Amino acid sequence: MNKIAMDLQVAMEKDPAARSKSEVFFTYGGFKAIFRYRIAHWFYTHHMKTIATIISAGSRRKYGIDIHPGAQIAGGVFIDHGVGVVIGETTIIGSNVLLYQGVTLGGTGKETGKRHPTIEDNVMISSGAKVLGNITVGHDSKIGAGSVVIRDVPPHSTVVGVPGRVVKQNNIRTNELDQHLPDPILEEFARLNKRIEKLEEALHIQSCKYSIVMENEENIEETKEDK
Ligand SMILES: CC(C)(COP(=O)(O)OP(=O)(O)OC[C@H]1O[C@@H](n2cnc3c(N)ncnc32)[C@H](O)[C@@H]1OP(=O)(O)O)[C@@H](O)C(=O)NCCC(=O)NCCS
Repeated sequence: MNKIAMDLQVAMEKDPAARSKSEVFFTYGGFKAIFRYRIAHWFYTHHMKTIATIISAGSRRKYGIDIHPGAQIAGGVFIDHGVGVVIGETTIIGSNVLLYQGVTLGGTGKETGKRHPTIEDNVMISSGAKVLGNITVGHDSKIGAGSVVIRDVPPHSTVVGVPGRVVKQNNIRTNELDQHLPDPILEEFARLNKRIEKLEEALHIQSCKYSIVMENEENIEETKEDK
């Protein structure tokens, strides 16, 4: 099966709202963006990078999906809803992968060379998730909505949160999930409280020292007077 046919097949399987392949082909922005990427990628790999960039820029304008023509995307990838998806130049994506709107497969800004993620087969990356850096998301994994993933993900995992943590592996809970949301104001109060306690301690020691010195001075004065 060629890659475009695989994309259509996966769109039909992953989107319960899709009624027919022709509907997906003519109306789905996510599908069309991948279709145009495949043309752009051909030009990119045949030393016509400017044409590739022009196609890719047009696709970004039209569908709001930014796929670098240098990315390597296997057949059978579907972007559902699509808008706001960014796929960087050195990204590698396997088959049967589902991306939702707002997904970024990007760099951390600190790496050069291969600086975007590798997504293995049968992965789902939920809406708004950011997968950053030259990391690998293992096959058959799920990335939760809104997660920020900056470390390798082992196969068959569910990752959620910021930073992303593995909460399930092979469908078994890993107990790494901490649903505690930090409260910066409360944390600042706690920090100030500690500083006040330390200052009070220091002041108490100082005042003790001062009173000892005063007592000593008074004693010396008294002995002088006695003499
Ligand atoms: C991660 C997800 C794919 C579920 O995967 P799963 O393997 O079935 O995991 P579970 O639902 O069993 O959740 C595991 C734990 O992670 C938590 N969790 C799930 N998704 C989460 C998220 N996005 N952020 C934070 N925690 C999340 C659950 O509350 C659960 O914790 P609990 O057991 O303490 O209640 C799903 O929750 C998700 O994020 N779906 C979004 C899909 C999407 O983008 N849809 C857009 C359509 S337009």
